[in-house]
Amino acid sequence: EKGGYAHFMQKEIFEQPKALRDTLAGRLDLESLEVKLPEIEANLSYYQNLNRIFISACGTAYHAGLVGKYLLEKLVRIPVEIDVASEFRYRDPLIKEGDLLIVISQSGETADTLAALREAKKRGARVLAVTNVVGSSVSREADDVIYTWAGPEIAVASTKAYTTQLLVMYLLALYLGRAKGSIEEKLYKEMVQGLKEIPQKVQEVLDAEAKVIEFAKKHLTKEDAFFIGRGLDFAVSLEGQLKLKEISYIHAEAYAAGELKHGTLALIVKDVPVIALATQEALFEKMLSNIKEVNAREATILGIAFEGKKELAKVTDDQIYLPRVPELLAPILAVVPLQLLAYHMSVLRGNDVDKPRNLAKSVTVE
Ligand code: M6R
Repeated sequence: EKGGYAHFMQKEIFEQPKALRDTLAGRLDLESLEVKLPEIEANLSYYQNLNRIFISACGTAYHAGLVGKYLLEKLVRIPVEIDVASEFRYRDPLIKEGDLLIVISQSGETADTLAALREAKKRGARVLAVTNVVGSSVSREADDVIYTWAGPEIAVASTKAYTTQLLVMYLLALYLGRAKGSIEEKLYKEMVQGLKEIPQKVQEVLDAEAKVIEFAKKHLTKEDAFFIGRGLDFAVSLEGQLKLKEISYIHAEAYAAGELKHGTLALIVKDVPVIALATQEALFEKMLSNIKEVNAREATILGIAFEGKKELAKVTDDQIYLPRVPELLAPILAVVPLQLLAYHMSVLRGNDVDKPRNLAKSVTVE
């Protein structure tokens, strides 16, 4: 049942190219390079006239939502608020008719996410669910549903659900951006072309697994790790640190790189592992100077950037270079080495990878 893999998590990491292909199928017209979302089309006028978008989800799904917020604001130019679902309904949210709540949930059964959905509906907003399970509670109660076609995810640590959730966020932002005329034609076409190629690019990142194993071995006995990035890279850093904590039991924190010197830099000492993401061109120089700050404290740094970014090697100990895609798509590629890092750390430390202590796959209590 694990198809020759040692663990479900490993199988699911390696299934990502297929999961992405399945989630794209029928939604990307490969001839005309247009995004199609019949799930939304039926109520397009509501979506075209949205005042505000809210996003609510838990854990990894919340991290996918963070990328979604960034994309929707950038490409659709509608303000987006995001909360973890366990906070949303307790803050008396200002959500009403004319607004949209997007809930993201692999299982579609997470109690807090379901409660957020009900709260938004009660207040008159429309709810769009992004879920992986047909017939789940969330899918039944939402007004509209876009399924991720990741297939069953068994490991507690979410991997292929996350990348397919990201993919749906891209499709949604492109579709709504097109419908509202808020996205430039050139960027639209570039991104659609990029999405078409993304499953193959993820495969290329998976092929660089050996590099990650090497880094994991070097840091096996460490008890703390830091993930730093800016913009979209910060959102991916949050997912990277959660994965590492969850299955390797290494204390990890993600920081917006510019925030480091407001406190956390005090924890960066000799040999502390720092994973630095630098995929965004406009932020690259700023990231390099943040990396230099941690380098000066003799941290051991793994840098992740697109191929061709030679400067990275001067300020980091190890590097992973991602194949080129339009830079807004970087999160789908950049998370893969972070998933592999958490996986290998967990295996090498002898943990129960698929069933980490204290955690359940689906959290149906509030
Ligand atoms: O089924 P859901 O997507 O609603 O689950 C949400 C979280 O419980 C889940 O993503 C959790 O954070 C994962 N174990 C992370 O790997």
